[in-house]
Amino acid sequence: MARIVAGTAMSHVPAIGAAIDNGKTGEPYWQPVFKGFEFSKRWIAELKPDVAIVVYNDHASAFSLEIIPTFAIGCADAFPPADEGWGPRRVPVVKGHSELAWHIAQSTILDEFDMTIVNKMEVDHGLTVPLSLMCGTPAEWPFPVIPLCVNVVQYPPPTGHRCHMLGHAIRRAVESFDKDLRVVVFGTGGMSHQLQGPRAGLINKEFDYAFLDSLTRDPVALTKITPLEYLRESGSEGIELVMWLIMRGALNDRVEEVYRFHHVPVSNCALGHIILENR
Ligand SMILES: [Fe+2]
Repeated sequence: MARIVAGTAMSHVPAIGAAIDNGKTGEPYWQPVFKGFEFSKRWIAELKPDVAIVVYNDHASAFSLEIIPTFAIGCADAFPPADEGWGPRRVPVVKGHSELAWHIAQSTILDEFDMTIVNKMEVDHGLTVPLSLMCGTPAEWPFPVIPLCVNVVQYPPPTGHRCHMLGHAIRRAVESFDKDLRVVVFGTGGMSHQLQGPRAGLINKEFDYAFLDSLTRDPVALTKITPLEYLRESGSEGIELVMWLIMRGALNDRVEEVYRFHHVPVSNCALGHIILENR
């Protein structure tokens, strides 16, 4: 039987990818950011997951406003990096896990979640930046990845409650897969995050810290936050935090928090990061 052993969440700010790709990680601005992931890199190298489910959002790279799936799962064998305007990131092609992805698609759809099945897709910084933060710059990514894409770009996004419930459905799906796989789930995006307008650069540490506290101890409380509250408290892109609730819903009700990191600023956002283990 497959099982979910741990979850992690982190911001996926594109400038992080550019810093890595352009050899700027040692610069004073970036040093503390990458220092904050040294533990995490060791942690995942020791964990050696067989597969990762990475919950992220596409930023008009694979999809556009022509087609906006609320939840989409990548069932392909491989997902090339997308060209986001400066050419594709020079990172390895993301290898998929088609068999488990199809099983999750079947299980969650029969469990009444309307997943869009995607058999061909490029992946942008939303997915590749978290992999870079956790795995560095390897020649090949150390584990296959199932991309799980969520619409948080075009209103209306799914609610936090719906996302948490989807996490539960993913847990049931993984646990009904008949091969011995140890699975880790990534939630990405956020935290304090407003890229434009008069409130650009909004940072709300109080909200971010409270979110991290509740994510570990009382995620159900977070499922009551409305899209409007995310907008007000966390900025126009703060809604990305609902993707952390998919990760959390996929874990056991009680988890152990093994690491946390919060840093300001990255671009004009806060960078949040947490690691939770099923015990
Ligand atoms: Fe994003």
